[in-house]
Amino acid sequence: MANVNNIVMLGFGDMGKGIAQVCLMAGYNVTAVDISDEIIEKGLNYIKTGFEKLESKGKLPEGSSTVDYLAKLKTSKDIIEAVKEADLVIEAVVEKLDIKQNLCKDIIENAPEHCIFASNTSTMSITEIAEKCSKPENVIGMHFFNPAPLMRLIEVIKGDKSSEESIDIGVGVSKTLPCLRGERYIARVMKDRPGFIVNRVLSPRSIYFNYIIDLANEKGIPWEQVDADLTGPNTPMSLLTLADFTGRDISYHGQLYYGEKLSSDYKPGKVLTMQIEKGTLGKKTGQGFYDWSKGRPQPDLSKKAGLVNQEIFNAINANEGCRILEEGVATSWKVIDEAILAGMNFPGPMEYATKNYERLAKLLEETAEKLGKPYLKPCYLFKSGKFVDMI
Ligand code: NAI
Repeated sequence: MANVNNIVMLGFGDMGKGIAQVCLMAGYNVTAVDISDEIIEKGLNYIKTGFEKLESKGKLPEGSSTVDYLAKLKTSKDIIEAVKEADLVIEAVVEKLDIKQNLCKDIIENAPEHCIFASNTSTMSITEIAEKCSKPENVIGMHFFNPAPLMRLIEVIKGDKSSEESIDIGVGVSKTLPCLRGERYIARVMKDRPGFIVNRVLSPRSIYFNYIIDLANEKGIPWEQVDADLTGPNTPMSLLTLADFTGRDISYHGQLYYGEKLSSDYKPGKVLTMQIEKGTLGKKTGQGFYDWSKGRPQPDLSKKAGLVNQEIFNAINANEGCRILEEGVATSWKVIDEAILAGMNFPGPMEYATKNYERLAKLLEETAEKLGKPYLKPCYLFKSGKFVDMI
């Protein structure tokens, strides 16, 4: 199996800078590539500040300093030149299929024979990203969670044509990448289906979420009150803060994609479409549901609007978990729960559903009817409770 020493981080935005940092922490040589000087500057600052903080807290390994780590980081705006000696390219550019496909093709043509191209796409098919390139066996998914230095999960995804060796290299490298908040959890995703494990299981929440925020908008209810409704227990950030943090454009493109691949019931709602048109994308533009211009918002969640039934979210998630078990993306409901805990810092939906699926399935039948969204109907494994034995 090829040794990995040189990693190219393609796209140095929100995700790219965090992934580059953990690659540096693991001791790899990293070249960060982006088309924007401003983004490169911001990424360098983020990494420098990150290492300085760790150093001041005495959290860098003995004998190493910020300067040593930064010496292994280069930046470039020329991807063709940057990949000449790359063993692994991790791609985190904008979530658009044609851009990813073209980059994948160019990189595979210009990088060494053994170079692996790993996409950090949140939703897209690895098989489709590899479609235009000459070595789809070298293309895999390596899906990190935001921010990569703090979130424990990496999903390593097998495209239809990825070789076992490429997957093993992806898993091997992922295991070496430190996480500042506990042990890394690597989930092997057995089949290339939209959203993989975590995002897929959580994806149909957007159908109910869109319904609620559109309803609240129509009724003129303040976002903080809707947020108080939407935010369940055990979540590190309120749900609308998280939506802003992730970026409304990421949600929009994701919903269009799921709308095309899984069901038109995913189509973005009115509020989301408005946010895209106005460019109020959340943290990255300084305004989303909340104002981010003075840092992370601290919404007052003391008053609820009373629009949301949290059990519907539980039912929707567990039902989707059963759908991916039916499709062979994962083979056990425990893996789904563990991946969600490691990727999102809140418990997965499956264990709870093993004891409550009959009631939850009934609730889903009613919700699908009320919202006019047939995709929310319970699938066979869920309704029958047969998933309970898939431990
Ligand atoms: P971002 O918009 O912050 O960063 C994307 C970067 O790609 C920008 O800096 C842009 O200048 C650069 N770029 C665009 N075209 C390029 C090209 N041709 N060559 C080089 N650089 C180019 O987006 P973000 O949030 O970092 O997302 C990037 C990818 O990571 C997407 O595929 C997204 O789905 C995925 N992802 C995002 C997560 C999140 O929470 N934001 C979580 C996990 C995955």
